[in-house]
Amino acid sequence: MRVAVVGGTGSFGQAVAKRLVDAGVEIVIGSRDAERAREAAAALGAEGANNDDAVRSVDLVLFAVKADAAVDTARDLRQSIGSTPVLSVCSELVFGPGGVKPAPEATSIAKRIQDELDAPVVAGLHSLAASNLAEALTDEDAFVCGDDAEAKELALDLAGRLVSGRAVDCGPLASARALEGMTAVIVNVNKRYKAHAGLRITGFE
Ligand SMILES: NC(=O)c1ccc[n+]([C@@H]2O[C@H](COP(=O)([O-])OP(=O)(O)OC[C@H]3O[C@@H](n4cnc5c(N)ncnc54)[C@H](OP(=O)(O)O)[C@@H]3O)[C@@H](O)[C@H]2O)c1
Repeated sequence: MRVAVVGGTGSFGQAVAKRLVDAGVEIVIGSRDAERAREAAAALGAEGANNDDAVRSVDLVLFAVKADAAVDTARDLRQSIGSTPVLSVCSELVFGPGGVKPAPEATSIAKRIQDELDAPVVAGLHSLAASNLAEALTDEDAFVCGDDAEAKELALDLAGRLVSGRAVDCGPLASARALEGMTAVIVNVNKRYKAHAGLRITGFE
């Protein structure tokens, strides 16, 4: 499998890319700046390119840009992505004195990205923390949702290479609103309990 990580210079993109390279996945790190991408990629044994070039000729585009830039970035990359499936890991967080909250928007970022693209968009990996992923395969489940069966299978395959738990199909893209909110839950738990929390679903093998 060949995967482009858009925004792959960030902490999440780097951590995911590291695990996937170890798992034998061909990775192209994408950035707005090709040189920055190449530098970040070299440390991982991956390729680097500007985002436009990175998303061409891959099996899956992993969208790991800063959340508030995700929808605009999708719009900019529409032609280059074409019909290649996209996995959005983006979660919008609002930081305040009472803790971290999910963004108040009624629709998920994944749905808003879907509205900008001709490609099928699935969402997932929101409950995995970059700091956990950067160390080793993490002992938790990974959650993926989406409306396109083939794109979701691809994303589940990829998710299964990141965790020692299960890659769990969480249903249609409408579930992305809940999955994106999980990032806020994890950040609050980590802060409250000084932890490196992850999630596991019980009740099925
Ligand atoms: N960090 C986590 O543990 C975690 C957990 C779950 C989900 N996520 C999600 O994963 C995504 C990446 O997280 P992160 O912590 O790695 O984020 P980040 O470091 O803030 O940003 C990732 C990359 O986004 C690109 N970027 C920044 N501003 C941009 C803009 N205005 N337009 C286009 N690209 C821009 C940058 O790449 P270039 O400057 O090289 O283009 C940057 O390296 C986020 O959407 C986040 O919600 C993160």
